[in-house]
Amino acid sequence: MNVLLINGSPHPKGCTHTALSEIEKVLQRHKIETTRFHIGRKAIHGCIACRKCQKTGKCVFQDNANTCADLIRKADALVVGSPVYYASANGALCALLDRVFFSAGQDFRNKPAAAIVSCRRGGASAAFDRLNKYFTISEMPVVSSLYWNAVHGNTPEEVAQDAEGMQVMRTLGRNMAALLENLKTGKSKIPSEKREARVMTNFIR
Ligand SMILES: Cc1cc2nc3c(=O)[nH]c(=O)nc-3n(C[C@H](O)[C@H](O)[C@H](O)COP(=O)(O)O)c2cc1C
Repeated sequence: MNVLLINGSPHPKGCTHTALSEIEKVLQRHKIETTRFHIGRKAIHGCIACRKCQKTGKCVFQDNANTCADLIRKADALVVGSPVYYASANGALCALLDRVFFSAGQDFRNKPAAAIVSCRRGGASAAFDRLNKYFTISEMPVVSSLYWNAVHGNTPEEVAQDAEGMQVMRTLGRNMAALLENLKTGKSKIPSEKREARVMTNFIR
């Protein structure tokens, strides 16, 4: 089993990384492998709604969105982490995820996922909600913890002192491990049914 951890911060070893590492330690204790993907610091293009991806399954931009989509396809589960920027997830991360999910979201169905956010003070809940929207429109089971998944801090050292936030991360790691172990042993296998044809009304009757 392999869990992909996406660090949606420009800081490779910042607060978001610190929170992801707490989850990662628990997963590795449960013999679950992890893969990291960092969004980096280069400019990330937003979606231009060209819809070419709907024919090809790939985004037209030659950046790391297609690599990210392939990593999610390969992983058994996904954790997306973001710093809170103006009470939302990092815009660069959303620009990437808009293209990843628009081009490949249908391939992520039934893949367990969780979002985590890191903030100095406020806006965590809105940012958490923003990220969960990618999963809940893609039929991905959302793994929960014992609070809304956030840590507080402006530096990795401050995040490490957020005892409750770090416990939320460890609990998320344990819940993710338990779900993956259950899926592996078939205890709670998601039944496959014939899918309904997609209806899109755009609010016009
Ligand atoms: C552009 C920008 C906007 C931010 N907006 C918020 C905010 O709305 N609420 C908050 O609590 N912290 C805000 N912060 C602080 C970061 O969310 C916080 O320091 C976070 O833990 C940094 O994570 P990182 O080290 O992984 O980048 C903002 C930081 C930046 C650079």
